[in-house]
Amino acid sequence: MSTTSPLPATSGLKPQAPLPATQLNNKPSADHAAKLAETQALLQRAAAEFQPLTQASSLGAEDVVITHLINALQLDIPVFVLETGRLHAETLALLERTEAHSRAPIHVYKPQHEAVIQFVRDQGQDAIYQSIELRKACCGIRKMEPLARALAGQKAWLTGLRREQSNARAEVPLIDESEVASKGLTKFNPLANWTWGDVWHYIAENKVDYNPLHDRFFPSIGCEPCTRAISLGEDFRAGRWWWEDEAAKECGLHVKKG
Ligand code: ADX
Ligand code: SF4
Repeated sequence: MSTTSPLPATSGLKPQAPLPATQLNNKPSADHAAKLAETQALLQRAAAEFQPLTQASSLGAEDVVITHLINALQLDIPVFVLETGRLHAETLALLERTEAHSRAPIHVYKPQHEAVIQFVRDQGQDAIYQSIELRKACCGIRKMEPLARALAGQKAWLTGLRREQSNARAEVPLIDESEVASKGLTKFNPLANWTWGDVWHYIAENKVDYNPLHDRFFPSIGCEPCTRAISLGEDFRAGRWWWEDEAAKECGLHVKKG
């Protein structure tokens, strides 16, 4: 019998647990305080001049920062979450905790049950991996239709988009007025110029509750079947729809016509 073990030799040291995201990513920019003051002023202005308005929250790191600011500043800005029916258990648990503790009301929008049933019946459970068209059809049913309901009658919405997140987002403005003429909607991106380090500095400083998937190398979190952890050196959004081309990697929430 061979005495060679198939397992690699170990040093005898216990494996170390990964650092929590609050420690790993807490790297504020030199002008973090100025950015925070600008964001606070923008939120106050939005709440004063753009009623009714609402925050779109995926419960990701950027969004928990914005909700925390809305609550800390006691602004009249309700929050909505598109609960697609495919979110991680960790995200659903954070949603429950947020509903219990937020001063701002949290509205949950779910897809039309019948449309989901029919899509799965016609296309099967794994349709999203078969083609971009089927994946986008799923996003259409689970995200876009509920988004339209969430934004009906609103004058403005707030999102957690940041320029650093991807090439496609490199030009995200703090105030986006490109859909005012077509939809009557102004989009505020109050963290547009924040870095990932700024986001985590705020979360750490203010002890903001966050999705524990961030501690497991999920920087960008969407639906469970369409999100994976990233490896060292991979792009911020590499774990989203990882089987598709870079250009296709948006669900439509922030895609502009043309
Ligand atoms: S996505 O287009 O790829 O899904 P991403 O996950 O980066 O978007 O999130 C960008 C912003 O879109 C979030 O900061 C949030 O404002 C909004 N958003 C994304 N997913 C949701 C969701 N499930 N519910 C509400 N808002 C969302
Ligand atoms: Fe469907 Fe995936 Fe889009 Fe979620 S992200 S709505 S599961 S295709």
